Amino acid sequence: MALSSISILSLLLVLLSASWATPASIEDNFIQCLDDNSEHVIPISAVCAQTNSSFTSVLNSTAQNLRYLEPSVPKPQFIFTPLNESDVQAAVICAKKLGIHLRFRSGGHDYEGLSYASEIETPFIMLDLARLRSTNVDIDDNTAWVQAGATIGEVYYRISEKSKTLGFPAGLCSSLGIGGHITGGAYGSMMRKYGLGADNVLDARIVDVNGKILDRAAMGEDHFWAIRGGGGASFGIILAWKIKLVPVPETVTVFTVPKTLEQGASKILYRWQQVADKLDEDLFIRVIIQVTKAGQKGERTVTTAYNALFLGDADRLLQVMNQSFPELGLTRKDCIETSWIKSVLYIAGYPSETPPEALLQGKSLFKNYFKAKSDFVQQPIPETALEGLWKRLLQEDSPLMIWNPYGGMMANISESAIAFPHRKGTLFKIQYVTSWYEGSQDATTKHMDWIRGLYDYMAAYVPTSPRAAYVNYRDLDLGINDKTNTSLSQARVWGTKYFKGNFDRLVKVKSKVDPDNFFRHEQSIPPALIEA
Ligand SMILES: Cc1cc2nc3c(=O)[nH]c(=O)nc-3n(C[C@H](O)[C@H](O)[C@H](O)COP(=O)(O)OP(=O)(O)OC[C@H]3O[C@@H](n4cnc5c(N)ncnc54)[C@H](O)[C@@H]3O)c2cc1C
Ligand SMILES: *[C@@H]1O[C@H](CO)[C@@H](O)[C@H](O)[C@H]1NC(C)=O
Ligand SMILES: *[C@@H]1O[C@H](CO)[C@@H](O)[C@H](O)[C@H]1NC(C)=O
Ligand SMILES: *[C@@H]1O[C@H](CO)[C@@H](O)[C@H](O)[C@H]1NC(C)=O
Ligand SMILES: *[C@@H]1O[C@H](CO)[C@@H](O)[C@H](O)[C@H]1NC(C)=O
Ligand SMILES: *[C@@H]1O[C@H](CO)[C@@H](O)[C@H](O)[C@H]1NC(C)=O
Ligand SMILES: *[C@@H]1O[C@H](CO)[C@@H](O)[C@H](O)[C@H]1NC(C)=O
Repeated sequence: MALSSISILSLLLVLLSASWATPASIEDNFIQCLDDNSEHVIPISAVCAQTNSSFTSVLNSTAQNLRYLEPSVPKPQFIFTPLNESDVQAAVICAKKLGIHLRFRSGGHDYEGLSYASEIETPFIMLDLARLRSTNVDIDDNTAWVQAGATIGEVYYRISEKSKTLGFPAGLCSSLGIGGHITGGAYGSMMRKYGLGADNVLDARIVDVNGKILDRAAMGEDHFWAIRGGGGASFGIILAWKIKLVPVPETVTVFTVPKTLEQGASKILYRWQQVADKLDEDLFIRVIIQVTKAGQKGERTVTTAYNALFLGDADRLLQVMNQSFPELGLTRKDCIETSWIKSVLYIAGYPSETPPEALLQGKSLFKNYFKAKSDFVQQPIPETALEGLWKRLLQEDSPLMIWNPYGGMMANISESAIAFPHRKGTLFKIQYVTSWYEGSQDATTKHMDWIRGLYDYMAAYVPTSPRAAYVNYRDLDLGINDKTNTSLSQARVWGTKYFKGNFDRLVKVKSKVDPDNFFRHEQSIPPALIEA
């Protein structure tokens, strides 16, 4: 009798301890840790687990490349959406304590989905900074503090709300997150006059690997140098940037002039290559190259569209064009005089008459499956090579190239001023893109093969040692870190393409501020200490 009651008791104990030993889920442990390390109780709604029916829509919300939402791509264990800065600090402390890999997202435009997908390391969790998105413009000081989750379009809108004659020189696409965007450089239609977004940053607030908040003075000049152009997610989590606003005239002029092959596209583009970087610094003319059905009988042809912003009125623009690029044949009818904020909508591709308030929605205008690559060109590409290029474009369903002029301020800033290095000597940058609309493996392989072939073809016409690339156009074909073996010599291969001579200094900064490589991903800067 006594024996059997003891055995029932011990059985109970065994059962109980078994249930105690059931491992709590990663999110339970994480939430517990957040509560222990935060100034306040983390609201349950800030955490969205895979089992939550909202998970996919939260994950999808700002993910720009559909390739990285496919079922075969590993998803975060859960998504944590901080409501204030101290939550971000707690997230770093807890991810470290629990040994969980951490990814973080501002605007979700990473070309290879690195902010919300991880193919080299699972499980992982994602920090979505979308709700840290205030913009505070200080009009007396011509500066603004902008939180990482704000889109660049919102920033432009908030500036224009306060002043018609101030702007900021960053990206063309309005849904970019300022958090990730500026870490890679951030070019746009005022770069020839004012340089990059990253050239116009005065201060920043970041969460470092110890969960501490540092501003410029606290992090020091080396660390502050690295976060301007050294690429996202290697040196800490940007909470906010302090940006310097730049003067813009009350009236600016925009235009888009298309030229098909039948209209002499090759000759005009050859000419553009010779003048685009030498034009008046108020003038930015990029070339958007696509395959369209604009041939005489509606057959496919290549269209080169000259898409421009001029910081001045149409009269002066026509004079500048007549002097420097008459071959385009720009007429007064092509010119649209407008305000700077409306030029932002025009260049971003909104339908005309869209009110600037649309920028506050922070929504991207399109999403698709895509793969992109980039080159920095130092010598005009001969017309015969252009003919070969057109042949290749005509073989693809939806090819796109954007040729983006350099010169002006870009040539005046030294290669080592910030971590972004592509300056003097660059005539223009090419972005190659192919996009598609269904995620099958066959479709993906076909389009990836096409763009890799195009990239090989272009090797003969661009500098190859190194063959330079823009880190904000992330391209994992250039090489990746292994999970277990982050080799400095391997990383140098792609690191010198993105950062040229600045790569070694980035490694030095990394070794100092994050020697254990907590902030890491497929193409993060490795610390020197990990060299095998
Ligand atoms: C449609 C489209 C148009 C584009 N147009 C331009 C353009 O005009 N000019 C230009 O320069 N670039 C352009 N880009 C590239 C763009 O600048 C980069 O993709 C940039 O990294 C996007 O930042 P994000 O915050 O939106 O992306 P995310 O995907 O959120 O982040 C990108 C990278 O930065 C890291 N990161 C994100 N937030 C932070 C943070 N707070 N602190 C530290 N690291 C962070 C991420 O982990 C990831 O590695 C374009 C991209 C797309 C898809
Ligand atoms: C599910 O996620 C949504 C969005 O993040 C959140 O508001 C909600 O509280 C979550 N539900 C549960 C049960 O965690
Ligand atoms: C999220 O995106 C994937 C890939 O495009 C799609 O299959 C899915 O339906 C989307 N889900 C939601 C809720 O938006
Ligand atoms: C952070 O947000 C929480 C919840 O919204 C709030 O209770 C807390 O006071 C905030 N803390 C700070 C430092 O702003
Ligand atoms: C263009 O410049 C030439 C002289 O270089 C001048 O004769 C002509 O009138 C100008 N045309 C316009 C439209 O300004
Ligand atoms: C770049 O430098 C040249 C030569 O010093 C100067 O004429 C030009 O105005 C500068 N451009 C900008 C945008 O500062
Ligand atoms: C790591 O990778 C490098 C370069 O590929 C290789 O030389 C080295 O042996 C590897 N180290 C380990 C520990 O696998």
